[in-house]
Amino acid sequence: MASIHSIFALSVLSIASASAAMHNLTSYGAGFLDPTIIPSAGGFAICIQGDIPVTASAQNVRLNYTEPANQLSVTNTILEYLQANTTLPETVLGTAANISGTYNINSKLCLPSTQTANSTTIQILTHGVAFDKSYWDFYSSDYSYVDAAALAGYTTFSYDRLGNGKSSHPDPIQVVQTPLEKEILHELIQMLRAGSIGATAFENVVGVGHSFGSALTVSNTVDYPEDLDAAVLTGFSIDSSGKPVFVAGLGLDIAANNNPTRFGSLPNGYLISSTVSNNQFGFFRAPNFDPLALWAAEATKQTFALGELFTNSLLGGIATKFTGPIDVVNGENDVPACNGNCLVPTNAAAAVIRALYPAASNSSQYYTAPGTGHGLNLHFTAPVAYQHILNFLAANNL
Ligand SMILES: *[C@@H]1O[C@H](CO)[C@@H](O)[C@H](O)[C@H]1NC(C)=O
Ligand SMILES: *[C@@H]1O[C@H](CO)[C@@H](O)[C@H](O)[C@H]1NC(C)=O
Ligand SMILES: *[C@@H]1O[C@H](CO)[C@@H](O)[C@H](O)[C@H]1NC(C)=O
Ligand SMILES: *[C@@H]1O[C@H](CO)[C@@H](O)[C@H](O)[C@H]1NC(C)=O
Ligand SMILES: *[C@@H]1O[C@H](CO)[C@@H](O)[C@H](O)[C@H]1NC(C)=O
Ligand SMILES: *[C@@H]1O[C@H](CO)[C@@H](O)[C@H](O)[C@H]1NC(C)=O
Repeated sequence: MASIHSIFALSVLSIASASAAMHNLTSYGAGFLDPTIIPSAGGFAICIQGDIPVTASAQNVRLNYTEPANQLSVTNTILEYLQANTTLPETVLGTAANISGTYNINSKLCLPSTQTANSTTIQILTHGVAFDKSYWDFYSSDYSYVDAAALAGYTTFSYDRLGNGKSSHPDPIQVVQTPLEKEILHELIQMLRAGSIGATAFENVVGVGHSFGSALTVSNTVDYPEDLDAAVLTGFSIDSSGKPVFVAGLGLDIAANNNPTRFGSLPNGYLISSTVSNNQFGFFRAPNFDPLALWAAEATKQTFALGELFTNSLLGGIATKFTGPIDVVNGENDVPACNGNCLVPTNAAAAVIRALYPAASNSSQYYTAPGTGHGLNLHFTAPVAYQHILNFLAANNL
């Protein structure tokens, strides 16, 4: 067994070192504080990873909510949040509160390792709740969108959202909120266009999101219609009927209690799904996944912040000024996006384009991956979904 793994590791490393000679990695490390060079999961990309300081300002909301003292208080908050005719959101959402700061955003710039990178187009990948940027480069090339994109010649930029993974973890109630995260995405896009990341001024930027990351990407197309040349929204719909089932099904724990080794230093406003079964419920659909992928997701699961839960309603809007093409890609059995069935009453992916993108290019597309849950990239169907996305981009000359 060990030999299979070491042969695999060797070949990944040899592809990676061959490609180190092809690209000037010193120059691609520009903008990172502490760049390290690592191969992608399948070795088809060579990546520069490290912190990028991002300065952003936003209008957050003062939340009338103090840090929960214990798990009883967290569970009670979720009960109040989900109860019929809840008044919790209006009690909690206060007045506008300006916020600004410089946050370390841990990021990964990945170049194709088997061919010359096309430095015209970059894809910015924004992950959803319960994951960090590794969602896009999950533990083998079968699941890695970064590898699939690299094989098609694309450079990708993924990052841990604020309060996630190796990025800064500020106050999870007053600071980690959707307005600030939206501005951080906007700033990163400006930096990619200006050449301040990787010493390459990318002319075309494609936004690719998953779930909450798709909601941020949509908000970007609403507020800054010039930022992106195209947007790919995965695990996303305009139907919120599955959200309560999803939130309840995660069985939210205080992250510091759930896993003191990984999260012991975080304040109680950082929450996490409870057990591997809760993870399965929210993100997987059998028999379309390998149980090992579920266990890997559980071992690397990530937190989300109460500030994100309470300000979720501030995201979105109709992108009346966005004229680029949109691609919406869902798993057929996505729980939060579709309450477990994305084909009733109509195709949920098609509905997004009709409802939110009146001015989008008529070359927009959508795709529903059969028998697949919310964690699309962790299912056997991932390669087919990736091919759909990459074909969509090629059809739009990106
Ligand atoms: C690589 O990039 C660095 C920084 O931009 C530059 O100083 C160096 O000369 C480049 N090396 C080659 C071989 O082009
Ligand atoms: C409670 O919610 C239901 C369903 O959304 C709505 O029809 C009803 O008007 C609400 N009642 C009050 C008192 O707000
Ligand atoms: C803040 O929340 C408390 C309940 O937790 C409520 O009694 C109070 O009226 C709220 N304050 C504002 C300004 O909404
Ligand atoms: C918040 O910032 C906006 C501009 O973004 C400004 O108009 C407003 O006066 C600021 N409010 C406060 C309380 O500083
Ligand atoms: C899409 O738009 C282009 C240019 O605006 C137009 O030529 C083409 O006929 C349209 N195609 C469809 C299927 O509507
Ligand atoms: C790079 O991609 C752009 C489209 O984004 C395309 O026009 C250009 O021909 C490509 N360049 C190379 C060298 O493949």
